Order: sequence, then structure tokens, then C-alpha cells
Amino acid sequence: MKNNSNATWSRNAAGPHTASARRPVLALRKVSKAFRSVKALNQIDFDIYPREVVAVVGDNAAGKSVLAKTIAGLYQPDSGQIYWDGLPETIPNPSAAQDMGVASVFQELALCDNLTIMQNMFLGRELARRNVLSEEKMELRARQVLADLGARLPSVHTLVSTLSAGQRQITAIARALLGSPRLLIMDEPTSSLSVAQTAEVLNLIERLRDLGYGVMFISHTLADVQAVADRVVIMRHGRINGEGQMRDTSYEDIIAAITGAPNDLTRAIQRRGALVAPTAA
Ligand SMILES: Nc1ncnc2c1ncn2[C@@H]1O[C@H](COP(=O)(O)OP(=O)(O)O)[C@@H](O)[C@H]1O
Ligand SMILES: [Mg+2]
Repeated sequence: MKNNSNATWSRNAAGPHTASARRPVLALRKVSKAFRSVKALNQIDFDIYPREVVAVVGDNAAGKSVLAKTIAGLYQPDSGQIYWDGLPETIPNPSAAQDMGVASVFQELALCDNLTIMQNMFLGRELARRNVLSEEKMELRARQVLADLGARLPSVHTLVSTLSAGQRQITAIARALLGSPRLLIMDEPTSSLSVAQTAEVLNLIERLRDLGYGVMFISHTLADVQAVADRVVIMRHGRINGEGQMRDTSYEDIIAAITGAPNDLTRAIQRRGALVAPTAA
């Protein structure tokens, strides 16, 4: 990659990955996106490595969903560069993101209640042969994806209307995985779930990491983040206001970076030159 800021970033994003020659599957450099006067993304540098869960946290309107949607091809950056496997890429639309290897689960893209788990998984991409849906193939593939996930769901022929919120979320994740992506984006996947359902989705996120996926996990709930994330990235007012390996980052560090109080985490980001002082924001 050619951007000068990369060397600085890699050093700061210290961890198991930077010690080796591993390369992020996805990297954003100085990506900005404004809606009229609102700078939803302001010079964002962001990496996700394979086999890594990156939590993105931040207060309401910090820019988390816009970041996710930009990576998923729903929004176009005004400036900056996105790299996939180290090569510059543009992601003009969601299907380009899918083709590249990005799968996403957004809250608002709900499942169809009147269809089964399998029908929802294949909705819009049915495996057709001579215009006849290959039911057997779809069932095999659906079962295989769910088994890979270790997902505990009833039969793939169960109507989605009968599922719990947690089971629906798992169905949505399984659906996202059908296209064999390398990166999975989840925007607040646990926000409407019970404790037990949340635990199941968090287990599934760990399983995805162990299968080698890069996972971007957006959440409001710091306990969930601390439970599954390898790395945490904190957004504030459209900027990255803190970033660290989860095991080196305290709850207080994260809160300070979310609210804008200066602390070690935010000072490290400022030293990198990517951020004005939070008090000046
Ligand atoms: N489609 C849009 N049009 C105008 N403004 C938007 C749009 N999407 C997001 N924004 C604004 O961008 C900012 C970041 O929003 P968002 O990424 O949704 O925040 P969050 O961190 O809560 O997910 C907010 O100020 C929001 O109002
Ligand atoms: Mg959001």
C-alpha cells in the first residue's frame, strides 16, 4: 500500500498481526463521507485482519453505521481509499461488496416472516437449474452453513415467524455467509436480544473468527464487546477516537474515548496525528 500514514498506523495497531507479515483483508485510509454539513466519517483509518473480531463502539450518531454501510457498498466515500487484500478498490454497490467478499447483517434488512429459514437464506439467489429451484442443493448448503456455525436452529423448513429474535439473527448471519465471504459486518446484532440469545450470537461470532473470518462487530454493549472482540475501535463525531487490543484496553479507556475525555487511548491516537484534541472537537 502506498499511503504514507500506513506505517504509523501499523505500529499503533500493535498486536499479533503486526508482528507477522499478515495483511489486513480490508483497510480504509483517510476515508471521509459527509451528509450536507454532517461529517459522518472524517478521515477514517480502519483495518480488519482475517481471523479477527474488531468491535466498533461509539455514542449515537458517532458514524458506526455509516462506516459499516460504506464498507458494504451502500454509501460511497467522498474521499479516501479502500483497500482489499492490499489493493485499491471501489465498492460502488452492495453486490460489488458481496462479490469482493464482504457480507453484512443490518438490523433494518429484516427477514421475511412468511418464509422458512432456508427460503430466507436463499431469497434472491435461489440455486436454479433449468429454471427449477434445486431444493435439495439449497437444503444441503443451508444445513452445511448452519452446521459450520454450530448454530442451534430447528429444521431449515421452519417458518421464520416462529423463531426467537436470537434464532432470527442467526438465520440472518447464516444467510450472509452463503456467498462465502471473508469479512462479515454486523451492525448491532445483539441490540434486541435477551441475555441467553446474546450469548448464542456471541458464541457464533467467536466461531466465525475461528473459521478465519474477519468480523466487524458494532455494539453499544461494552460487556459484549469485551467478551468477543480482539480489538476495539472507538468512534466519536465521525472520527476514530481510540483503538487498542481488547486485552490491553480497560472499560474506563473505552468510556473515555466514547465521551471525549482525554486518556491514554485517545492521546495515542492524537500522537498519530489523525485527530484534533477531543476538547477542541
Ligand atoms: N442517509 C443519511 N442522510 C443524512 N445523514 C445521515 C445519513 N446516515 C447517517 N447520517 C448521519 O450521519 C451521522 C452518523 O450516523 P450513524 O453512522 O448512523 O451513527 P451510529 O454511530 O449511531 O450508527 C449522524 O449524524 C446521522 O444523522
Ligand atoms: Mg448505527
